[in-house]
Amino acid sequence: MRALITGGAGFIGSHLTQLLLDRGDHVVVIDDLSTGRHDNVAAFEGNPRFRLLVDTVLNQDLVDQTMRDVDVVFHLASAVGVRLIIDQPVTTIRTIVEGTRVVFDLARRYRKRIVLTSSSEVYGKGSKVPFSDQDDIVLGPTCTRRWLYASAKMLDEFLALAHWHETRLPVVVVRLFNTVGPRQTGQYGMVLPRFVQQALAGEPLSVYGDGEQTRCFCHVRDAAEALDKLVQTPEAQGKVVNIGSSQEVSICGLAQRVIELAQSSSVIERIPYDKAYVEGFEDMRRRVPDLSLAHRLIGYAPTRDLDQIIHSTLDYWRKR
Ligand SMILES: NC(=O)c1ccc[n+]([C@@H]2O[C@H](COP(=O)([O-])OP(=O)(O)OC[C@H]3O[C@@H](n4cnc5c(N)ncnc54)[C@H](O)[C@@H]3O)[C@@H](O)[C@H]2O)c1
Repeated sequence: MRALITGGAGFIGSHLTQLLLDRGDHVVVIDDLSTGRHDNVAAFEGNPRFRLLVDTVLNQDLVDQTMRDVDVVFHLASAVGVRLIIDQPVTTIRTIVEGTRVVFDLARRYRKRIVLTSSSEVYGKGSKVPFSDQDDIVLGPTCTRRWLYASAKMLDEFLALAHWHETRLPVVVVRLFNTVGPRQTGQYGMVLPRFVQQALAGEPLSVYGDGEQTRCFCHVRDAAEALDKLVQTPEAQGKVVNIGSSQEVSICGLAQRVIELAQSSSVIERIPYDKAYVEGFEDMRRRVPDLSLAHRLIGYAPTRDLDQIIHSTLDYWRKR
């Protein structure tokens, strides 16, 4: 298989690249390295089946030339991370909305199978758990920048599904829930790498809000394997599929477990949302995926539990 992975030098994209290269596929990555890192893919550069193009998906000519020669497209390029989205709202909207338009127009021209990575953020303030793709969506007001990411991703989903409805472009929309593991950085607001680095440095672990909000953390390798299976599953086309874990943990509980597994002397420090982000910042209390569709389509079930995830992240940061 020849694959184009946009955002392939990022956290999830680099694991997907590795997975495909390991089984003999050809991979071309387009990544502008805005949040991705050359380091993530440096180990693949001697591989004749790998090519990295450092450029933006907004470069229509480049995406056009690259798209012709591949069998499948994984569209991961996106602005990512709460911190970055709040600090760079215009770039966020441009990358997510315009970048996806370019990639889907060309996928349509060349009739390529394509996976769009969306996000559990799209579920917004929904309080019915677990979250299912058929649920109504409740977002906050447009003056709260946090919601622009969900809105932009939602527009991407509408666009992808519109291509499916109009021309039967083989599209799969994947809503990823909190995905974590080696190579993720804490720089843009991701919680686990931040906790791990703080624990290893013996610094306080900064828990935003009261820490009782819960999340389900999925190992990046499980997510990458699911993306790969979904692009090869015709029954998944035209569907919105949740991928994540259903093992729920509070953010305080996560911090505590990181401290224990790192055998760290760190303590937990609570920071109000207003201080961590911006005034009026809204967060969801729970975010649990309904994984039944993924299970039906590809037999999906996460294989790594929270302790394994924390250990693999700790190992990564210890080596760095
Ligand atoms: N990590 C998670 O928990 C999570 C959760 C939900 C959804 N997602 C989605 O998964 C995808 C991958 O996220 P990630 O966690 O690996 O983050 P990441 O930041 O590591 O990956 C995004 C990649 O896209 C690249 N990129 C950004 N703008 C670009 C542009 N204009 N042109 C080309 N490349 C560009 C970045 O440099 C980066 O390598 C994203 O679409 C994200 O929205 C991730």
